[in-house]
Amino acid sequence: YGTQAINEKGHLCIGGVDTTDLAKEFGTPLYVYDTALIKDKINQFKEAFSQFEHVEWQVAYASKAFSTIAMIQLIDEQGLSLDVVSGGELYTALKAGLSPDRIHFHGNNKSVSELAMALDAKIGAVIVDNFYELDLLETMCAERNQEIAVLLRVTPGVEAHTHEFIMTGQDDSKFGFNLDDGMAERAVKQALSSPHLDLKGIHSHIGSQIFETEGFARAIKIMVGHIEAWHRNFGFQLEVLNVGGGFGIRYTDSDRPLPIKRYVETIVRTAQDEIARLNLHMPALWVEPGRSIVGEAGTTLYTSGAFKTIPGIRKYLSVDGGMSDNIRPSLYQAQYKAICANKALDSADTQMALAGKCCESGDILIKEAVLPESCSSGDLIAVFSTGAYGYSMASHYNRIPNAAVVFIEDGEAALAVRRETYDDLIRQDVALEKLSQRDS
Ligand code: LLP
Repeated sequence: YGTQAINEKGHLCIGGVDTTDLAKEFGTPLYVYDTALIKDKINQFKEAFSQFEHVEWQVAYASKAFSTIAMIQLIDEQGLSLDVVSGGELYTALKAGLSPDRIHFHGNNKSVSELAMALDAKIGAVIVDNFYELDLLETMCAERNQEIAVLLRVTPGVEAHTHEFIMTGQDDSKFGFNLDDGMAERAVKQALSSPHLDLKGIHSHIGSQIFETEGFARAIKIMVGHIEAWHRNFGFQLEVLNVGGGFGIRYTDSDRPLPIKRYVETIVRTAQDEIARLNLHMPALWVEPGRSIVGEAGTTLYTSGAFKTIPGIRKYLSVDGGMSDNIRPSLYQAQYKAICANKALDSADTQMALAGKCCESGDILIKEAVLPESCSSGDLIAVFSTGAYGYSMASHYNRIPNAAVVFIEDGEAALAVRRETYDDLIRQDVALEKLSQRDS
């Protein structure tokens, strides 16, 4: 995984930094991001698109995968655009200093105040999800006498092969306008006639952690077919075709993701072919990768504590984090790989369940982790590919403070998010005696 290596002491190193030193300095659980690997993934997208000379493109990092000030600054430095889905993600992006015109706002239920924030900031585009939002946005823009660029999110009816909870492109979905029941066409007409909405194009997102290119090709063919009809029937000019994110990554050795290049090439070639076949004007192509940019770059370090053997059944090694910092195993049965980071040269030959510390039987990070036999209490455990939807989906279950985040860059570790304290946990609590003063 990226710049990982094992040093002469048998310790896992990330970007040249010994993970046992990281644990000593910053404590555990600790999210460690290898920024060289993030930049490498970003470059893979850029290089893949750059092969196509006459194609305009944009890569917008989906910040739901992992958003902090430092992460958005890195995205800014790399010249990407950003996809946000809430006021909080938008706020983070603005505070990080990202130029608002590079921000795209998604979501199936944006509130009035979130839209107002986006309009105040004059962001690049709103991806409108439904008629409620289409009406609301037009009304708000009219009141402010402001124009905004919009894309319409459509549901192409493509089912990507992935976990049900992260499938999003099928007909029965809370997201977007369906193409085959005429709702998308009605939305296009309404947006075209809205004086304050500048309809730029169409957006789709067919799912996440996708290991094949076929779904993207099918979605593009379906969308371009409809676009051609809209062009013919009422002169719709497509400027942007956004095909979302969802490019798969490697969590365990059995995952075989395609190179980023393959996804991009399929997207560009399919779009080019379909557009040419139907004699349309080539739109700009936008993608929104989240997981594929940060997933493999993140590793979580834990310290192991309780260890028990249930004879004939299973060994359990418990760590100082769990579903509070990584909900994915319990929510999606997601699989991960772990090693004993301070005994990285010892042969991993013993199966044990890597358990979290939350009061929940389902809080097992890896049911069948394979670790060295000597791995027991007080060791450092590294779980790989935790960079996407780990920190961003962390909770305070059991009032466990959120872990710290460090970025490794050029052999140096820098704190990107401070570890929460117990005081942080109770900061917004109102004590009973204050509650009762309400009436007096
Ligand atoms: N664009 C849109 C409109 C999306 O809904 C998503 C993800 C993305 C882009 C980025 O997808 P990515 O490239 O990261 O796969 N919490 C789940 C994943 C939910 C994804 C939701 N939408 C997980 O942990 O697997």
